[in-house]
Amino acid sequence: MLSRREFIAKGTGTVVTMAAAAGTGLLAGCGNNIESHPPTVNSFHDLAGPRSLRAHARRHGLVYGSAVVIPVVEKNTDFDSLLSEQCGILVPSNELKWVALRPSRDEFNFGPPDSLYDFTQRNHMLMRGHTLCWHESVPGWIRKIDNKDEIKQIFVDHITNVCKHYAGKLQSWDVVNEAIDPAAKLPGGLRKSFWYDNLGPDYIDLAFHAARAADPNVKLTYNDYGVEGDNDGDAEKRRLILEMVKGMKSRGVPIDAVGIQSHLNAGQKYGQGVADYIEAFHQLGLEVYLTELDVNDDATVSNDVAERDAIIAKTYTEFLGAALPNPAVKLVLTWDISDRFTWLNGIGSHRKKQPNRSQRPLPFDVDFKPKDCFYALRDSFDRHKRA
Ligand code: XIL
Repeated sequence: MLSRREFIAKGTGTVVTMAAAAGTGLLAGCGNNIESHPPTVNSFHDLAGPRSLRAHARRHGLVYGSAVVIPVVEKNTDFDSLLSEQCGILVPSNELKWVALRPSRDEFNFGPPDSLYDFTQRNHMLMRGHTLCWHESVPGWIRKIDNKDEIKQIFVDHITNVCKHYAGKLQSWDVVNEAIDPAAKLPGGLRKSFWYDNLGPDYIDLAFHAARAADPNVKLTYNDYGVEGDNDGDAEKRRLILEMVKGMKSRGVPIDAVGIQSHLNAGQKYGQGVADYIEAFHQLGLEVYLTELDVNDDATVSNDVAERDAIIAKTYTEFLGAALPNPAVKLVLTWDISDRFTWLNGIGSHRKKQPNRSQRPLPFDVDFKPKDCFYALRDSFDRHKRA
């Protein structure tokens, strides 16, 4: 395994195009025959190349990838292989958030995300950035400043510096993450947050303008959760986000894409709501990314693993069946690729509620064995022919 220094030193610095990254070396031997469930899978390497999620996505005009926790990539050779075999794009889970990137006002901790960028280049993958503005990642040092003009200047400088650092290198940026919260009852459904309190509602436009000025070509994305289901709460959030995005477009704010986080729950209903939501953005000329797909199965009563995995896979199939037919959808990323690293099993995670049982939300299990939802994901890529 490479040390962090070697990891960085081996980088090529080459910028990979979307098509090249997703497809390089992986399409050889891909005929039209869909071989969904190979009879025996002794190791995850059996699913590399034309059998990978990466290749199946690519065949249908999509890029598949995963979030990663960078220290894990640096310590685990098998995991490196799993990522490079299966993914056409990676996103660092935490390392580009303010708290990780800005330990102090004067510091930018670019080392870890830069090493991930080099890893993506060596493996002909794309990388996306997450995130320039999120209410949950606000460092203590900035909270102590009580001058709003100064906070605004730091905000714009941060976005400018970070976007310039990666200019021309990333496929997309989550410029603003999770800015809508209907429960706050603020105008436009905006969330009450440090940024809202100090910069006012204009902080969202400001962030997108600063990002565009620093990197003219990266796809600028608004990303949010709680919009996936066929229920009233999700419908209201969809309405508010759509209104916000339409307002941004009418003001000439440079937004290119909308991210649907896709943290799903087994047993919930997914269908027309998300399909209509995606189509609304398609009509506006925007791209749509499924940015953080996983399935929480706390609501499943059975403890039988096979039964649970089947229900989880069904949730993937149902949701992707609604989302993927729309050609606006360009990226599908799971939030990690193996259950070994899922945030749902994170220490102290409030998202894991069932006692004495681990979550199994991702395509590969803790031993990197493919699960039902690996095949559900791959079959979904194959099933939905896109325009
Ligand atoms: C999560 C990470 O996965 C965790 O490791 C961290 O402790 C908290 O944040 N929506 C988002 C992501 O946009 O940034 C969150 O990531 C998961 C929910």
